[in-house]
Amino acid sequence: MAQGEPLGIALVGAGYWGPNLIRNFNALDDCFVYWVCDKKPGRLQFIHERFPHLPLTDNFDTVLADPRVHALVLATPVSTHRDLALRALEAGKHVFVEKPLADTTQRAQEIADAGRAAKRVVAVGHIFVYNPAIVRMGELVHSGAIGKLCYAESSRVNLGPPASEVNVIWDLAVHDIAILLDVWRQKPVAVTAFGNRYLHPHLIDAAFLHIHFADGSMAQHHVSWLSPDKVRRFFVAGSQGSLHFDDMQPQAKLRHIDQGQDSRIGLSDTESKELYYKPGEIKVVALPADEPLRAECAHFLECIRTGAKPRASADEGIAVVQILEAACASIENHSARVEL
Ligand SMILES: NC(=O)c1ccc[n+]([C@@H]2O[C@H](COP(=O)([O-])OP(=O)(O)OC[C@H]3O[C@@H](n4cnc5c(N)ncnc54)[C@H](O)[C@@H]3O)[C@@H](O)[C@H]2O)c1
Repeated sequence: MAQGEPLGIALVGAGYWGPNLIRNFNALDDCFVYWVCDKKPGRLQFIHERFPHLPLTDNFDTVLADPRVHALVLATPVSTHRDLALRALEAGKHVFVEKPLADTTQRAQEIADAGRAAKRVVAVGHIFVYNPAIVRMGELVHSGAIGKLCYAESSRVNLGPPASEVNVIWDLAVHDIAILLDVWRQKPVAVTAFGNRYLHPHLIDAAFLHIHFADGSMAQHHVSWLSPDKVRRFFVAGSQGSLHFDDMQPQAKLRHIDQGQDSRIGLSDTESKELYYKPGEIKVVALPADEPLRAECAHFLECIRTGAKPRASADEGIAVVQILEAACASIENHSARVEL
């Protein structure tokens, strides 16, 4: 593309999530949405009613053959990601693939390899790594603000989607694993998971994932489709304090809590004093007002222009898929520990 020319974008998949991507790319100045593609006429009609100027097609080949299109954004079900991404890369397009990158580690690796071979950007929709609270959480952890990293604990629960092709781990835990790897900046060594099918006829609909790191730090992630309450919490405990992310809070999404005081520590047998423990100072961490999805879309365009590796690249996509796969393997094997 010529210097200063807007990047040509096509969005594939206008179901539940695709319209959010369409809205954001459509609002960015330095790109032009040439196509929205979906196999279902009803979804194309829905887009037409909201964005009447956008050209629509049900034919993926039309999008691939259009030389004005530099990049494809895939918001289709995960079972389609590998094939659509490989075809896009073969056609010389950059590609943004919604999370998770693929439905197996091997297929995620194929996408990464094809991206390298084609010298094209591959980004994956790990939206939380573009969330200002998670970016700040990583910065605080690595500046030593909470001391040595001990463990993370998260909860991501809600009522499940009616017709998911993937279980709750692939639907929800993908976000928490992406956050964990982004904040921890080290690879885990093993996964143990517990899960069951309670209401869903054949998919695991509630699970607890335990992630183990070589330095002894660990994480537990609870995901469920059985909760009428929507919860989005990610807690990190350090030796000198903790960080609490609550995405359901309109304000004060990230809080930093000092280790606190405990008058029982070092008490001698002859001392007479009140015994108590209480949390330390609670600070609300100031955050920029950036919308994560907007930042994610803008970052993809910037990587295409500069050749920079995306913050959530195919490599991060593979690392997350590997853990999701290991968690399911653990559950299938009576919650045995799966080494990575
Ligand atoms: N980042 C997030 O927070 C977030 C949230 C929800 C979903 N997602 C991801 O977005 C993706 C889509 O999820 P969804 O819930 O929107 O699914 P969906 O089933 O609601 O929509 C998918 C759409 O893709 C279309 N499609 C499928 N194959 C196609 C093809 N070959 N060509 C053209 N259109 C095709 C379908 O007709 C459908 O309309 C998944 O990867 C999912 O994990 C991400």
